[in-house]
Amino acid sequence: MKLVNIVLLFLCFYSSVCKAPGIEPRSPVWQVKTLPPSHRHTTRFQLTSTSGKSQEDLLDRNCLTKKYTHLSCNKVFCQPWQKCIDGTCVCKLPYQCPKNGTTVCSTNGRTYQTYCQQKSFECLRPQAKFLNNGTCTAEGQFSVSLKYGKTDSEGILEVKLMGQNETAFICKKSWSMTQANVACLDLGFPQGALDTQGSFPMPENISVNGHECVHVHCRGLETSLTECTFTKTKIKKYQELASVVCYTQNADYPTGNLFQCVNGKYIPQKRACNGINDCGDQSDELCCKACRGESFFCKSGVCIPKQYKCNGEVDCITGDDEAGCKETGHPEIRVFAAEVQEETEILTADMDAERKWIKSLLPKLSCGVKENIPTRRKRVVGGKPAHMKDFPWQMAIKDGEKLICGGIYIGGCWILTAAHCVRVSKIHRYQIWVGLLNWFRPNSELKIQLVNRIIIHENYNGSTYQNDIALIEVKKHPSKKECVLPYSVPACVPWSPYLFQPNDRCIVSGWGREKDNEKVYSLRWGEVNLIGNCSKFYADRYYEKEMQCAGTSDGSIDACKGDSGGPLVCTDANNVTYVWGIVSWGENCGKPEFPGVYTKVANYFDWISNHVGRSLISQHNV
Ligand SMILES: *[C@@H]1O[C@H](CO)[C@@H](O)[C@H](O)[C@H]1NC(C)=O
Ligand SMILES: *[C@@H]1O[C@H](CO)[C@@H](O)[C@H](O)[C@H]1NC(C)=O
Ligand SMILES: *[C@@H]1O[C@H](CO)[C@@H](O)[C@H](O)[C@H]1NC(C)=O
Ligand SMILES: *[C@@H]1O[C@H](CO)[C@@H](O)[C@H](O)[C@H]1NC(C)=O
Ligand SMILES: *[C@@H]1O[C@H](CO)[C@@H](O)[C@H](O)[C@H]1NC(C)=O
Ligand SMILES: *[C@@H]1O[C@H](CO)[C@@H](O)[C@H](O)[C@H]1NC(C)=O
Ligand SMILES: *[C@@H]1O[C@H](CO)[C@@H](O)[C@H](O)[C@H]1NC(C)=O
Repeated sequence: MKLVNIVLLFLCFYSSVCKAPGIEPRSPVWQVKTLPPSHRHTTRFQLTSTSGKSQEDLLDRNCLTKKYTHLSCNKVFCQPWQKCIDGTCVCKLPYQCPKNGTTVCSTNGRTYQTYCQQKSFECLRPQAKFLNNGTCTAEGQFSVSLKYGKTDSEGILEVKLMGQNETAFICKKSWSMTQANVACLDLGFPQGALDTQGSFPMPENISVNGHECVHVHCRGLETSLTECTFTKTKIKKYQELASVVCYTQNADYPTGNLFQCVNGKYIPQKRACNGINDCGDQSDELCCKACRGESFFCKSGVCIPKQYKCNGEVDCITGDDEAGCKETGHPEIRVFAAEVQEETEILTADMDAERKWIKSLLPKLSCGVKENIPTRRKRVVGGKPAHMKDFPWQMAIKDGEKLICGGIYIGGCWILTAAHCVRVSKIHRYQIWVGLLNWFRPNSELKIQLVNRIIIHENYNGSTYQNDIALIEVKKHPSKKECVLPYSVPACVPWSPYLFQPNDRCIVSGWGREKDNEKVYSLRWGEVNLIGNCSKFYADRYYEKEMQCAGTSDGSIDACKGDSGGPLVCTDANNVTYVWGIVSWGENCGKPEFPGVYTKVANYFDWISNHVGRSLISQHNV
């Protein structure tokens, strides 16, 4: 069967060439890459360089007011023993952990089936901290203490590892704020460390050379130093020892420009946005416009240590730290790999590897990935044929004979659309057309679904277009357990407003009318740029949190009447497609001074998941 293939350019694309398929449109229409000067201040490229910028510039003040920490799932992934509820990582219940894993013991002498279960118990009741892998035995406890300090909140670190009789000092070489925060937290200082330096003279009769020192490697979010991995280099040589000053209320604050962490601690401002979690709650790394030094800048405005790039674990919610890495990456590569090479003995269990393993056992969601990625962009533009699989999430809503709106498939039996498209009272009249390209000459793949339920956002306001979002549940075949929508792939539902940024290029698609109100029969699409804060165009009619503007500088591509309810999709660094917006409203069509306004789907993640079930749309943090 011949595919209907006049997938044309776009909706309200009113350039005359558009109406003659096969003719190349004028290039300026399609090669718009930048927005007018007023929009340019936030391009990613300008920001990745720190040169010539004052420190102040690195911090996003508006973001700081949100007080994000390591528990803010809008900015970071939750731990495998946590799940994300309303933007916060909360403790999972132990039975929600994967069953596989190593048995571990906690400081209160309880044995747990897995590390995840122990961490989940600890998350609920902090006294059950991790002690060691394996089952609990009476012998040899772990201990950490501070020696030779003037007060009990400072000193040289001495540890006694499980199963060892001798105490050991920690070597200074691999010691940093990351480790120091964990040590202080373990010692009962909730705000972690003030400094990793400190001069603590040892009594003359103590021979440092006689003491071997051990290295410790942490991720920074451990609650006990035993969770970190201890290693020892086999070659004995003189090593400087690690010391720490823990943060207390009467600590001498650092001087100069200060940054206040969400946990109340003050750090020198020059340590914010350097990839190192100096605060201990990560709050110094989550609202950055760029990163200092060699640390890696996640598009979501987060700085991570440079070693996390291409280490086989996705650390940026935007996935950019693992995009474009060579396939030959070593998933189990360790931060301390360099030292392992020089004859290192691992003294304790590697709980970081265990954490990654647990993470890999968590359920995974398949969305936003097309079956085969055709080489479409740009080539299709100009009216060349596009494959049906280009828009596998695009749905059409018909009311009787009329195609009234678009919709977006998000998985299961669920379709997302605009609230203004549907009315609960008309439920029996609607049809969902799946796999449609041209509704004048329907293709053979087309399948028609009836509607079972319509859920309109309870705060939808038909005059302001606030909360213009609705869910349609299609009818399931009585003999089937699940809905089967042929040729359809769900678009991923974004869970964080930081997944995409102003100036990101996204795609809007639909069967909307042309500017001159001419009917359109075939599915059209166009590329638009996300525009930050549209209040300058729409003043008080625009609500930044709930709405997203997108357009091109000349207005040549825009959504128009009939596109409503359809998708604005954006694709992340790993080519996963998200439904970022739902076509909602705009002043006229195709006027640059009035860009299209979309319902910002990320703002409604919880609303959607409350109706369709968290597991259907949660890619992470389940
Ligand atoms: C869990 O452990 C069992 C038994 O050791 C094994 O058969 C199974 O494949 C493991 N599951 C995963 C997901 O690794
Ligand atoms: C630790 O001490 C116990 C009893 O004092 C002894 O049996 C054991 O061999 C010692 N272990 C090491 C590693 O020295
Ligand atoms: C070192 O000297 C101090 C007193 O000067 C003494 O209390 C301590 O026990 C000595 N330590 C060692 C290891 O000899
Ligand atoms: C615990 O860790 C030690 C040291 O890494 C390792 O030798 C041992 O096999 C581990 N035990 C379990 C049960 O994984
Ligand atoms: C819609 O919003 C307008 C302006 O804020 C308000 O006056 C009106 O009461 C709202 N309508 C509904 C149904 O909430
Ligand atoms: C958006 O812009 C308006 C006016 O230009 C300004 O008052 C408002 O604070 C801005 N909002 C944000 C979130 O930047
Ligand atoms: C994403 O897709 C583009 C074009 O199809 C391709 O060039 C790029 O390599 C892909 N990126 C990844 C990370 O797969």
